[in-house]
Amino acid sequence: MAQRTKAIRGMHDILPEQTGLWQYLEGTLSKVLCSYGYGEIRMPILEVTELFKRSVGEVTDIVEKEMYTFADRNNESLTLRPEGTASCVRAAEENGLLFNQIQRLWYCGPMFRYERPQKGRYRQFHQLGVEAFGMAGPDIDAEQILISARFWQELGLSEHVKLQLNSIGTKECRARYNVALVEFLGARVDQLDADSQERLKKNPLRILDSKSPETQALLDEAPVLADFIDEESRDHLEQLCGILDANGVQYELNTRLVRGLDYYSKTVFEWVTDALGAQGTVCAGGRYDGLVEQLGGKPTPAVGFALGMERLILLLENISMPVNTKPVIDLYCIAFGYEEKKAQMVLAEKLRKLYPDLVIVMHCGEGSFKNQLKKADKSGARFALVMGEDELANNVVALKPLRERSEQERFATNDLVAIAARIAN
Ligand code: HAM
Repeated sequence: MAQRTKAIRGMHDILPEQTGLWQYLEGTLSKVLCSYGYGEIRMPILEVTELFKRSVGEVTDIVEKEMYTFADRNNESLTLRPEGTASCVRAAEENGLLFNQIQRLWYCGPMFRYERPQKGRYRQFHQLGVEAFGMAGPDIDAEQILISARFWQELGLSEHVKLQLNSIGTKECRARYNVALVEFLGARVDQLDADSQERLKKNPLRILDSKSPETQALLDEAPVLADFIDEESRDHLEQLCGILDANGVQYELNTRLVRGLDYYSKTVFEWVTDALGAQGTVCAGGRYDGLVEQLGGKPTPAVGFALGMERLILLLENISMPVNTKPVIDLYCIAFGYEEKKAQMVLAEKLRKLYPDLVIVMHCGEGSFKNQLKKADKSGARFALVMGEDELANNVVALKPLRERSEQERFATNDLVAIAARIAN
């Protein structure tokens, strides 16, 4: 036998039995976003590599190690998007959406990162991202956190996620903090884990994110980012907290929360759960006031976040949310002989046109009455619609209940209303 070709490691098929849950999730989230006045934008999944280098940052895990980058046939370097913010800024700017106007946008789709796959971490994964442009105040930061909190309410997940919040201030305060941090940790470099030693040279702020308990213990003594934050950023955070408090949104101020992408300033936040093991961040984002300008646009304040769809699906499954996502088949159509099948298919089309909410499945292929009925039963259908020789001759069709103990009934094939009424009962 020829060898089978397999999917790429870390990239998964989403099968029909799972897509119901995906559709439920996408439907719930997009409805919430629509109710806040956000419009959907769809960007290409391929961009020029330069875009991510200039936005996510040259010295980040994503750009250094995780991008799917290749030369196209014209030798241009392209990258499968590892995240959506950079593409969204590019698209909004390129299409004139940012000129003298504010924008509230969202997108949903696949992202690609060459990470070590494990539960909740994949090489192709899906994000739903939300971005707002042109608003500098803490009100829009609060709006976005309220949107995410509403997501959890709608999905029944509020008890399973916690909000962590921080301000990383302006570029200037981070630069001053970096100097102090490097000075402190540089004198204790042998006490740092290997990853942090590397980060000390390239991106010291990311050491705050270290998972090593020894490094975290060392950080207890280190200078604190909050002490370096400028007054404006501090006021911004305070006002944001005030709006969250007024809305009853709980959060933990975590002064060690920094993000793995370079474009953030002021507000950063993450929603985390302890129900998913190591990959516990289900949603993350923050303010990125400098990015539009950095990518060639006019200075434009911006804030956004993205959630990991796979992680949310895992969470919904973990807490065994009773979401009934499998469509119930109303009618399973059985026919014997070519003429009967033809009449049956005409009838089914008429029913579909008049009653688009009905789920009607046609038995295609051969099979005895017994065999077709067995298939109808196994499909979970509520009724079998039977067209035999006798029915065809008399312009009728038989409706056989499969889930209730009642007799089958015959209906004139042109009496669609009566057929539908019986099914609705
Ligand atoms: P991020 O923290 O890199 O931020 O990703 C956001 C979310 O995507 C994560 O919290 C996680 O749920 C999910 N995620 C990330 N990597 C993976 C993976 N390999 N497998 C499964 N899920 C994953 C961003 O991407 C920013 N663009 C968010 C943002 C939007 N900031 C401002 N606007």
